[in-house]
This record gives sequence, C-alpha cells and structure tokens, in this order.
Amino acid sequence: MKELIITNKILNWYDLNKRSLPWRKKTSSKKKQYYTLVSEFMLQQTQVATVIPYFNRFIKEIPNLESLANCDNQKLIKLWEGLGYYSRVKNLKKTAQKVIKDFNQNLPDNFLDLKSLPGIGDYTASAILAIAFNKPIIPLDGNIERVLKRYLYLKNENEIEKKNLIKQKTFLGTSARASDYAQALMELGALICKPTNPYCEKCPITKKCKSFIKKDFKLSKFKKKNKEKYFLLKVYKKDNKYLLVKNKNFNFLKNFNIFPMEELIKPKNFKQNLNFKMSNMNMSIKIQNDKIIKPIPFSYWIDPKKLKNYTLPTFTKKIVTYLENYK
Ligand code: ADE
Repeated sequence: MKELIITNKILNWYDLNKRSLPWRKKTSSKKKQYYTLVSEFMLQQTQVATVIPYFNRFIKEIPNLESLANCDNQKLIKLWEGLGYYSRVKNLKKTAQKVIKDFNQNLPDNFLDLKSLPGIGDYTASAILAIAFNKPIIPLDGNIERVLKRYLYLKNENEIEKKNLIKQKTFLGTSARASDYAQALMELGALICKPTNPYCEKCPITKKCKSFIKKDFKLSKFKKKNKEKYFLLKVYKKDNKYLLVKNKNFNFLKNFNIFPMEELIKPKNFKQNLNFKMSNMNMSIKIQNDKIIKPIPFSYWIDPKKLKNYTLPTFTKKIVTYLENYK
C-alpha cells in the first residue's frame, strides 16, 4: 500500500509539472521506440538542455531506424558534432543495423537482447525497457539515485552501491504507467531533488523523506578517481594552416582529426598550456611548435579561418581557437 501511495504522488506531480521534451511526444509505438533509442544514446553523457536541439535536428534528418542504418557516417558525425563521445553515434548506427538484420526491424523488448546491441549497457537497456516498452523497471540514473538516497537516507557504501539501490522496494513501479513513472522519477531528481539546495517545498513526497525530516541533504558518493594524464601537443604551421592527424593512437576520439600528440608519463617540470577533462581523464597539455622533417602519415592541413567547414571534435576546435587567440 505504501509503495502505491508514493507512486501515485509522484505520477500526479509529473502530470502537472513535466517538461515537454521532444522525445516525450505522444506518437506511434514504433516511433516511440526509435525516439527513445536516439534520445537515450544522446543523454548517456549529456544534459537534457544540450540534447534537445541535437535530438530535433537528428530526427528531422534521420526519421527512422532504416534511414539510420543506411546513413552516411560523415553526415552522422556532423549531426553529433558538439555532443562529444563519438563512439556513441557509431554504436547507434551499428545498433540500428543489427536490429534490422537480427531482430526483424523491431527493437527487442528484453534485457539480454538489448544488451547484445552495441552501445547499450545496463542503464540504457533499463531506460529503453521502461520508457519505450512500459516495463516496471527503474533505470537508475544520477537523478533517480539522488531521490532514492535522500528519501531513504542511505549513507553507507553498501547501501548506495548501484546493485543494492535498484533492489529498494519503496520505489518499485506500477506496470500501468511504468514508462511515465520512470520518467517521473528522473524528472523529480532533475527539477526538485537537486544536488544542492533541493526544492523540498515543491516536492510531492517530503512527508516521509528521511533527509527532509532530518534536514540533512548531503549525499554520499563512491569516488571514481580521475586519471591525470600529460600530453605534448605538436603544432606544425604552414601558410597559416595547421596540421592535424587522424587519431590512431589514443582510445579517446579514435579516428578523429586531432593535433599530433604524445603522452608523457610523469613528466618533470611540466608547464601546461591547456587543460581538458574527458570522461574521467584530466588532460594537461603542453604545446610545442615544431617543424616537419619527414612526412606525417594520415595528416591534413586545415585553415583556422574555415573551422566551420570541417568535421572536427570540440577538443580540436578549442585548441585551434586557443592557438589563434593566445599563442
Ligand atoms: N536522462 C536519461 N534519460 C532521460 C530521459 N528520458 N528524460 C530525461 N532525462 C533523461
């Protein structure tokens, strides 16, 4: 009984307060599956507000699974440019191809088959099952995690481990509106149960929220350590153009055009020019101007005045901007 009351309170709140997001539009079940697939891939490492225009553009240009499976890679990458983590869009296309070939053009509606698709892990599989197929599953993203930890006042390492959090019965969903319920929990975390200064006065479930009762909203976290990495980046300039190479060396931005770089292991007296954060890697970059002695394989010259014309990762564009403005 207790669970049902919470579920209803959260759903009622959602009905009145949900954001109108493009992938939430009422549509046919086939389209809903496609929209969920695309939006969940985009949302894997990117905020909702950033994703909205990308999603709209993507759906306009590539309206269904078939067109995605046959889409030219350059076009896909252009549509993804700025979202980063390009392996996501490559996997998205491979997933579309596999769904067409192996699953008779229908996104599978079970966990194991979904997880066999490129780029779909536990979280994305759960989100697709809940949102597109109305299965009573709670996809544990950062927002939902916060709601659960706060409401139940979970603090110790064992309790807050993901595999234990998803077993919490209090928030188990309802199969009648499982899709809305999963999104309602995400929305509650995103709009009300904010990381700092939650809007408890607007929350539909404060009455029994243990953090609210104790007036302690601090969250315990497992700390994932950032890796510190150091790179020497070479700038070759000719006729006001910069030389880029196709990245074959590093696991990040694989096959994208980047400045030639080498990783330095524990360098001494390292004076960085730039710092980037990529996933859980902190990149310290020292820039060195250099002269070409022998040909560099897979290299290209780009004109910094025509940056918009190239398909380049944000990482490379930012370095060009830095070189043009500060060097
Ligand atoms: N984050 C991940 N999936 C989401 C969704 N469907 N709606 C809002 N935020 C999300």
